[in-house]
Amino acid sequence: MAVVEQNLPGPGADQERPIGYGRLKRKEDARFIRGKGNYLDDMRLSGMLFGQVLRSPYAHAKILSIDTTRALALPGVHRVITAKDLETLGLAWMPTISYDTQAVLAGDKARFQGQEIAFVVADNEYIANDGVALIDVEYEPLPAVVNARKALDPGAPLIRDDKAGQRDNLASPTWEAGDQASTDRVFAEADVVAVRDIIYPRCHPAPMETCGMIADFNPNTGQLDIYNGNQAPHAHRTVYAQVAGLPEHYIRIMCNDIGGGFGGKVPVYPGYVCAIAASIVAGVPVKWIEDRTGNLAADSFARDYVMHSEMCSKNGKITGLRVDVIADHGAFDSTAQATKFPAGFFHIVCGSYDLQASHVKVKAVYTNKAPGGVAYRCSFRITEAVYLVERMVDALAIDGGFDPVELRMRSFIRPEQFPYETTTGWVYDSGDYAKTMQVALDICRYDEMRAEQKEKIAAGELMGIGVAFFTEGVGAGPRKHMDILGLAMNDGADLRVHPSGKAVVSLSAQTQGQGHETTFAQIVAEELGIPPEDIQVRHGDTDKSPYGLGTYGSRSTPVSGGAVGIVSRRLRDKARMIAATMLETRPEDLAWEKGKWYVRGDPSKSAPMTSIAEYAYSGKPMPAGFEGGLDAQALYDPPNLTYPYGAYICIIDIDPGTGYPTIRRFIAVDDCGIRINPMVVDGQIHGGIAEGIGIALMEVITFDEEGNCLNSSFMDYLIPTALECPGYELGETVTPCPHHPLGAKGVGESPNCGTPPAVTNAVIDALYRSKGIRHMDMPCNPARVWMAMQGKAEPPQ
Ligand code: CDP
Repeated sequence: MAVVEQNLPGPGADQERPIGYGRLKRKEDARFIRGKGNYLDDMRLSGMLFGQVLRSPYAHAKILSIDTTRALALPGVHRVITAKDLETLGLAWMPTISYDTQAVLAGDKARFQGQEIAFVVADNEYIANDGVALIDVEYEPLPAVVNARKALDPGAPLIRDDKAGQRDNLASPTWEAGDQASTDRVFAEADVVAVRDIIYPRCHPAPMETCGMIADFNPNTGQLDIYNGNQAPHAHRTVYAQVAGLPEHYIRIMCNDIGGGFGGKVPVYPGYVCAIAASIVAGVPVKWIEDRTGNLAADSFARDYVMHSEMCSKNGKITGLRVDVIADHGAFDSTAQATKFPAGFFHIVCGSYDLQASHVKVKAVYTNKAPGGVAYRCSFRITEAVYLVERMVDALAIDGGFDPVELRMRSFIRPEQFPYETTTGWVYDSGDYAKTMQVALDICRYDEMRAEQKEKIAAGELMGIGVAFFTEGVGAGPRKHMDILGLAMNDGADLRVHPSGKAVVSLSAQTQGQGHETTFAQIVAEELGIPPEDIQVRHGDTDKSPYGLGTYGSRSTPVSGGAVGIVSRRLRDKARMIAATMLETRPEDLAWEKGKWYVRGDPSKSAPMTSIAEYAYSGKPMPAGFEGGLDAQALYDPPNLTYPYGAYICIIDIDPGTGYPTIRRFIAVDDCGIRINPMVVDGQIHGGIAEGIGIALMEVITFDEEGNCLNSSFMDYLIPTALECPGYELGETVTPCPHHPLGAKGVGESPNCGTPPAVTNAVIDALYRSKGIRHMDMPCNPARVWMAMQGKAEPPQ
């Protein structure tokens, strides 16, 4: 049988196939590795038209006129939609996830290069593209500002003149966390203070599949079917209902397979709204698929934080942190965040250290750049926070003459301090940081590496050892603390066991390649003893799954996983009642062993789940109050975030002649609590390290002075290949999460948090120990490393 075959033990798999948790090959890979995934662009609906977006060539320009005559005259073009048409539908502007407004199609002026100006609907993609080329737009170019530090200069061009009362480019008032007075005191008492200006440059998740949608509005029934790979289908449906005034119960979103999301498929983009509007107007399905340039230049960007930071220590232990950030949100503020936290979770910047005080300030600015930013494999700015704190610890080590590992070891929060409240108000759940660091040091053979480094430096070679230790908060989040656009960040699970004992579990989480079809089946299997191949995981269809906020920020295991654990236990409790009737005993006399209820003291009298399921649907007598059947529902509101952590070490060699960095070794030791499927966890870590290497060494979205995006194709936006990635050396520690039903913490974004600082610290370690260079910003590509070696490294624009 194919399902069994695909799970035969292979390299890395346990010899025994697990019933519950354990290394189990991913069910979904059977179709993915055969090229049988079903992605949006594979779909063709009868009578479907195709949409394409005209984008602004200017970063900032008044739109004097838009003439669609020539485009409309092209045979095969059905409609050209502009801002004026959208105004009549009330769709010219849409709310963003950060309570700002964003032009769906620009009517008054273009505010970033690549902004959506018009939408052509045609018989096929080719005619739609030709139609786009025939739209005549008269622009009056305006000066652009693409540098966040210059956006607040007096005389900087005003970007958001559409907003009443907006006089400057400030997108948000300054948001603060921590305590300024006590931080000043700790700094006054410190014996070493390190100061750095650090930039986390604009980068992009660059998923294989770009964004897209098929909107299928039926004018006869009023039903709107949407096919769209997004990470939060239920929330999207609610947003469409609110924005377009459509009845929510007449909207159905179906996701199919998704070719990577990484946070970039959380927001609602103008192309989606255009596809919906076009289908409503045309009365037929309309498909829009974004091209690569549109994806890189106009949406999904991440990071873009300009950070001034000071860290201090006393007697070799880190004591205080001061941070002042300018967040560049582009032309419209659509940064992903929970409502109460305008800077996302950035204030987790205290990291893994027992600080005496900290003070954090963040303000956001508008620039003539694409709007955002998305939480790229990140819980709302945690990645930026981890990068900052881990760069600052290394800066303090350099300035104070400490070994970066010893400084961390002396400053870690100790195991007995958990639950631990940070100076910015986070309550970390559990951890043993020194132990995890030690596992990484042992794998690395740290002292040996340092000895080798000394020899290399003496021989004129450049070798760096970069350390990073991260703690992040994932699993947003508790209803009492957070929501998005007023929606509680909870997730649901429905579970039904059929008469045959086979089960279906429906989730509000939405996989984009993380293996949910396997791992969520394993959770049910662990709880009920049903083999994972007998459990189907359903998601991605709002008509067939319970309400919930979806998958981003590694929240699937912490929130949806919690829901699945609870729903399984509810069903198991029902099964107990039925088993008691079957075995003619009282429920309290039964004990559970994986897969069956048995009479305590007489295990020969038992009812396995398959028999209980068969009985539950039979005509036989039911326990009092039972109507028969075997199903359960749950909605999980987590009491706290979960706090995974990890120790990463990167060994890098730099060519002294060219500045070319080569990662020789990469060690990652993660603690994500109980691992449901350690093989899937390893896969998550492998992928995230590769992304982190890309961010640290090559990926950046930059602009020239006029606001032209210089990295809008894969010729200029470099993503890593296997050649740039070493074989990873993974280790693990397991500290269960005390408040999570499964003891698990999220893991997906961890490697994207830990890798950029580990790699950058390694580059700087090499440059400092050989040449005395104390800082450089990412990306550490050969040209920039070489410039740094000449003492000329500029921050990225
Ligand atoms: O939200 P997202 O799925 O991206 O992140 P996650 O909750 O960290 O889960 C990523 C994948 O790793 C899922 O398939 C999880 O079931 C799996 N995982 C696991 O097996 N054990 C953990 N402790 C955490 C995640």
